[in-house]
Amino acid sequence: MPDAAPGSSQQQVRGAAPEGATDTESASRAVRDMFTSIAPRYDLLNHLLSANVDKLWWRRTARTFRHILSREGARALDLCCGTGDMAFALRKQGRAATITGADFSHAMLVRARRKTTSASAITWIESDALRLPFPDNSFDLVTSAFGFRNLADYDAGLREIFRVLRSGGECGILDFSEPGGIVGKAYNVYFKSVLPRIGKLISGNNGAYAYLPASVKRFPSPPELIDRMGQAGFRESVWIPYTFGIAGLFRGKKL
Ligand SMILES: C[S@@+](CC[C@H](N)C(=O)[O-])C[C@H]1O[C@@H](n2cnc3c(N)ncnc32)[C@H](O)[C@@H]1O
Repeated sequence: MPDAAPGSSQQQVRGAAPEGATDTESASRAVRDMFTSIAPRYDLLNHLLSANVDKLWWRRTARTFRHILSREGARALDLCCGTGDMAFALRKQGRAATITGADFSHAMLVRARRKTTSASAITWIESDALRLPFPDNSFDLVTSAFGFRNLADYDAGLREIFRVLRSGGECGILDFSEPGGIVGKAYNVYFKSVLPRIGKLISGNNGAYAYLPASVKRFPSPPELIDRMGQAGFRESVWIPYTFGIAGLFRGKKL
């Protein structure tokens, strides 16, 4: 089952579990099919539903890693890159680094490729984040924006990121969170009621935008994911809230 890690006394969420998924393989397949079906409208919906705040979040994340991206010959990997906007934001920090985007949805990558210019010079690779086709110690930076939450096994995803990072390398996982207080209450109404309706209307996909709030609710809290990053080997892990904690960036280092 994608829900619980075997052997754990507590029910610990192992990874994403779209409706109908019975194990990690079927969860992965369902996630890939879902993103493939919404790929044609993904960018439009993203910007519309976030009122373009997503652009600020990608930029802020990219700026955080400027010290790596400005290093000549540095190698960065953007996991679950979708249509490429996080990778493009990394590129905007300079020309020094080599940037690769990886996603397992062909339809998303087709759109990323279409948006690529010779100036952006990004390599796109069709690959599952849980089975990356890179040797150990390949990258100085691994990022993932709004993608990690969709992995069918979070611990396996963290271990895979850790494996492909070089010693001294860093990871940045940007994802939604559940804000507290009044902002949280207002946001909940939007996120759970308004967003799924608009998403369904424009994408024509019934499940995808209902899955989004459900997947955020299931996603480990910042302290829990930081703990799991530690178990995967990351050090100095922190969570930096963005926009009242609606989203946030997990950072960790491979020392
Ligand atoms: C919400 S989109 C995010 C896209 C992009 N990073 C952004 O910020 O707009 C999530 C992406 O993660 C990809 N994804 C989910 N699970 C994956 C996996 N196991 N391996 C590779 N890609 C995955 C999906 O195909 C989808 O393109």
